Amino acid sequence: DSIKVFAPATVANLTCGFDILGLAINGPGDELVAKKTSGSGVTIVSIEGDEGRLSKDASKNTAGISANQFLQEIDYSGGIEISLYKKMPFGSGMGSSAASAVAGVFAVNELLGRPLNQRELLRFAVEGERIACGSGHADNVAPSLLGGITLVKSYEPLEVLSLPVPPNMYVAVLHPAVEVSTGDARAMLPKEVTMKASVKYAGNLAGFVSALYTNDLGLMRRALIDEIVEPKRAALIPHFYEIKEAALSSEGVIGFGISGSGPAMFALADGLEAIAKAGGVMEGILKKRGISANLYISEV
Ligand code: HSE
Repeated sequence: DSIKVFAPATVANLTCGFDILGLAINGPGDELVAKKTSGSGVTIVSIEGDEGRLSKDASKNTAGISANQFLQEIDYSGGIEISLYKKMPFGSGMGSSAASAVAGVFAVNELLGRPLNQRELLRFAVEGERIACGSGHADNVAPSLLGGITLVKSYEPLEVLSLPVPPNMYVAVLHPAVEVSTGDARAMLPKEVTMKASVKYAGNLAGFVSALYTNDLGLMRRALIDEIVEPKRAALIPHFYEIKEAALSSEGVIGFGISGSGPAMFALADGLEAIAKAGGVMEGILKKRGISANLYISEV
């Protein structure tokens, strides 16, 4: 009785939806093997791909936390062994802790014959995030679990919607080799925003959601704007504004922004050719300065 699952990396915020929008990337992510054992609760037997940096203590690891909370909820008293294979960078803004949390709870639910449905698993993964970064944001776990583009309509109660994905939409994620902790990147945000700024933000967010339904790429581009979070966090990212300008000038690019809490950045484009070109331009800016970076390209 064992199962192997994969939970993808994600791009959260999507520029105009801080803490509420996110999308799943095809490629990097977490692989996790779970099996039933005697004993009780979750034991993490091994973690690979983390350079020894993640805790194997199930109460400190997001995969262990989400899986354990799930076992408590369904009153399962047996034991589960977990092996985690990180196939993505962490501290990257690509939802590493979320991928672990989703992989943990998803695997255990499958292993035990699906006592809960996929949406019901979300809140356990959110708990994992809460412990990992001190904030229970759902904008990484939701797309990692459900795929595509998701919107957290509300946190209390937790309500997540899946949004339509326009055909031929691609994403490039550029991850410079610097680490940013989500906790630090959240601490630098303003505690309050003005009425004027929030009206502008709401307009862009609503415009983006509308554009996803109508496949209006022009509107999407005008809506992918963030004047609240990005100006604060840009300082954490090498050559952010130069990369942004170059990406947005590249043909077919629909939008650009910080991926989650950074330092990864993302661009959206119409078509594989356009995204490959934009990704190359973005990466080139770091390369010419000797900053190493990884580039991921995926269909949304
Ligand atoms: N919405 C979260 C943040 C995502 O921006 O802090 C963290 O990856």
